[in-house]
Amino acid sequence: MSIELARDNGAPTDAERRTASPLAVRGLTVSYGQKPAVFSVDMTVRAGHMTAIIGPNGAGKSTLLKAALGIMKPLAGTVTVLGQPLAWQRDHIAYVPQRASVDWDFPTRVIDVVLMGMYGQLGLLGRVRAKHRGLAMDCLDRVGMTDFATRQIGQLSGGQQQRVFLARALAQGADLYLLDEPFAGVDAATEQAIIKVLKALRDAGKTVVAVHHDLSTVREYFDDVFLINTQAVAEGPVETTFTQENLQTAYGGRLAGAQMDALADTLVEPAVGGAPR
Ligand SMILES: Nc1ncnc2c1ncn2[C@@H]1O[C@H](COP(=O)(O)OP(=O)(O)OP(=O)(O)O)[C@@H](O)[C@H]1O
Ligand SMILES: [Mg+2]
Repeated sequence: MSIELARDNGAPTDAERRTASPLAVRGLTVSYGQKPAVFSVDMTVRAGHMTAIIGPNGAGKSTLLKAALGIMKPLAGTVTVLGQPLAWQRDHIAYVPQRASVDWDFPTRVIDVVLMGMYGQLGLLGRVRAKHRGLAMDCLDRVGMTDFATRQIGQLSGGQQQRVFLARALAQGADLYLLDEPFAGVDAATEQAIIKVLKALRDAGKTVVAVHHDLSTVREYFDDVFLINTQAVAEGPVETTFTQENLQTAYGGRLAGAQMDALADTLVEPAVGGAPR
């Protein structure tokens, strides 16, 4: 049994925050072997906002997303999606995995990859009709890939594949979008195209959570940050939480002075920092 702590001035209880959140994680521990990759993590994503998951290589960012999706079974903890257990809500989550994690050694056309996003709506035996193809083409149009609809996915460049995976996520019509490094290895034009689509989703009331490595664009792209290094370091709005202190904690003090100087314009003053955990 959990006991809600007394609250002051009508602030939401943890149960209320969890119910209102599209993705709430409590006490999540995930391990591949002896050592946990994610340890006792709490995360409460704000609805209708864009959240960046930030942390060094091996910090457990991908593992956190996989556990949030039910791809990995946690050792401990709970995942609540849109106020419900994950299993009830899986169709409402779209996922774009970290690049190169999918090996396309069988021939699949781009349009079919996008149509895969609609299996939830079609049912396993559902027939693909003209309206589904039309919607798939609309999604390809939103990421600037209509010209490649009949190309084999394996014959696209990495950045083009990334656009197609985003189109597949769009076709799903989800409420929550989880993206693992959507900008890794893409050129500036593709990055701009992707961020435009993600911001449009957010502006339409959807929730976007993306693992993000480029610290220089966090402020421009995201509303909220979640910093992790196996354990959660801090979470909250960029304006209060994207601080030098929180970054140094997340990166174990490994960010060099020059890197920090380059970020000086985008970081908030340490004094205003969100409370580290
Ligand atoms: N399939 C696996 N088997 C064993 N250990 C794994 C596996 N996948 C990840 N790990 C380990 O779990 C830890 C977290 O990995 P994870 O992929 O979640 O990190 P990440 O924060 O996404 O890193 P990156 O920024 O490099 O993508 C790492 O120490 C990694 O070596
Ligand atoms: Mg990763």
